[in-house]
Amino acid sequence: MTTTVSTSATGRRTHSCGELRSEDVGAAVTLAGWVDSRRDHGEGLVFVDLRDRDGVTQLVFDLEDCPKEVMEAAGTLHGEDVIRAHGVVRKRDGGVNPRLETGEIEVVVSEVEVLNRAENPPFRPTDKEALPGEETRLRYRHIDLRRPRMQSILRTRHRVTQIMRRFLDERGFIEVETPCLFKATPEGARDFLVPSRHQPGTFYALPQSPQILKQILMVSGLDKYFQIVRCFRDEDLRADRQPEFTQLDIEMSFVDREDVMGLISDMFRQIWAEVLDVQVGEMPVMTYQEAMLRFGTDRPDIRFGLELVDISDLATKTGFRVFTGAVEAGGVVKAIRVPGAAAKATRKVTDSYTDFVKQFGAGGAPTVKLEGGEFTTGVAKFLGDVKEELIERLGLEDGDLVIFSADTEKIVARALGELRLKIARELELMPAHGAQWSFLWVVDFPMVAWNEDEKRFDALHHPFTSPAPEDVPTMDSDAGSVRSLAYDLVLNGSEIGGGSIRIHDNVIQEKVFGLLGLTEDETRSKFGFLLDALRHGAPPHGGIAMGLDRVVMHLCGTENIRDVIAFPKTQTGADMMAGAPSVIAAEQLAEVYIKSTAPVDE
Ligand code: AMO
Repeated sequence: MTTTVSTSATGRRTHSCGELRSEDVGAAVTLAGWVDSRRDHGEGLVFVDLRDRDGVTQLVFDLEDCPKEVMEAAGTLHGEDVIRAHGVVRKRDGGVNPRLETGEIEVVVSEVEVLNRAENPPFRPTDKEALPGEETRLRYRHIDLRRPRMQSILRTRHRVTQIMRRFLDERGFIEVETPCLFKATPEGARDFLVPSRHQPGTFYALPQSPQILKQILMVSGLDKYFQIVRCFRDEDLRADRQPEFTQLDIEMSFVDREDVMGLISDMFRQIWAEVLDVQVGEMPVMTYQEAMLRFGTDRPDIRFGLELVDISDLATKTGFRVFTGAVEAGGVVKAIRVPGAAAKATRKVTDSYTDFVKQFGAGGAPTVKLEGGEFTTGVAKFLGDVKEELIERLGLEDGDLVIFSADTEKIVARALGELRLKIARELELMPAHGAQWSFLWVVDFPMVAWNEDEKRFDALHHPFTSPAPEDVPTMDSDAGSVRSLAYDLVLNGSEIGGGSIRIHDNVIQEKVFGLLGLTEDETRSKFGFLLDALRHGAPPHGGIAMGLDRVVMHLCGTENIRDVIAFPKTQTGADMMAGAPSVIAAEQLAEVYIKSTAPVDE
């Protein structure tokens, strides 16, 4: 008889349900897990698939080998009951099951112990059947997480954090924890607040990121810091946003932007190699300006064409009011070429483009087709005079569709930037998951953006980002044109990380706060501790934070961030399983000096 030692062995089992193979035939084993299914073949033969996180093993209850009471117990087993079974491994009687890793063997059971009966579950934790709606999955997350797919995602997430820790440890980084109960650190979202009991009327803010604290660690001489850290942002949720999410947060002293970008590029090459066995090559670098011009966004998906082309100069020669009017008003006219799409672009399709861009403030999305060497449909009648120039500028070929946008630079970028993604998805120009990994660094962001509503500048990254040294002289005269030393890492069109070289000079830092409309008093009360630190010998430093959840989404091929978080929140920030957030009794609120003004449900 063979005996194998398993790392899954405990006092109550010898192996996991995923590890027995033909080499183990003849071994006496004890397995424990959940009943995945039971098949009663009559005549004293019952099959049970036993499942744990490692896999599924077929158990056989055969009256010929099995005491009567064990057979009877087998007959009572239901899906999700937790059992322990003892028996001997044998070659599978009915031939190999290629769908199971353990498909060469089965365990002929001689003893069974029911460890816990399960009520009929609200759904079966299998990836084979249609899943219930996400609300049900989140409400019964304990069952949902039993699904092999979810377990595999959690494992991948674990592997990624292990690789990150190892990679950074090998390079001298020190993991430091920073507090959750802290002061507001601006990253552009609303804060989650926690009332203080000891100091009536005061609040902690949960960190939107450990930004200021990691900078202070550099002032303290830590030199290389990292943390896998929860961040909290009260912002509108999207498919890739959660109110609490995890960052790999990094800060380094005495570095240039290339040091940080090089380190992170290497780290992602290692993660992709270890997790996916994929070799990622050089990561191209693009300026913000080029990204906006060609793709209409600072996180371009460069895996397919459909690039934005400026045709404002040609537009003025068309006599089409929408075009000429936009340019006269100081705006632009841009176009994207959709190769070979003319035939399929029915009126309904082109109307859907117009409807789509309206949400971004555009009036519409005029189109034209090139068919038989002529412009047809849509705005064809206006384009006669510029036909050859347009064909050349856009590289048009017969059968192409062209889509235009004429408006302010900002609206055109947004409208066409989003439309190209929609079209790429609809026409299946976007490579399938895993087919292409297009990492891209975006650099040279503007330092600030004008906030028309509040009539002041906002920091594009955050207020601690250093201006490019050569642009510092123009900070007073033309702040909008100052570039920063920020960088973002984009993967297949999604922003997976961002960082910058920081301001380490308190005079420049105060100046930037002023530019952002903060008074001296506000600066002092919000950021006095940072300015103090900058005065006490701050080394030049810089860093970055990677969105861990988003990285895992890419690795696992899901577009829903909730799939990669064990206990996520819904679109409205609710935890469906526990029922959070929940009403707190008036007495408990009174302890922290709070009285609810929320309307009470009758
Ligand atoms: P930033 O705000 O760009 O930078 O955040 C870094 C990365 O975190 C991810 N991310 C999110 N993921 C899920 N849900 C969210 N709500 C969410 N918000 C952000 C993104 C993003 O690229 N302190 C700076 C970093 C630095 O300068 O070093 C910061 O937090 O992938």
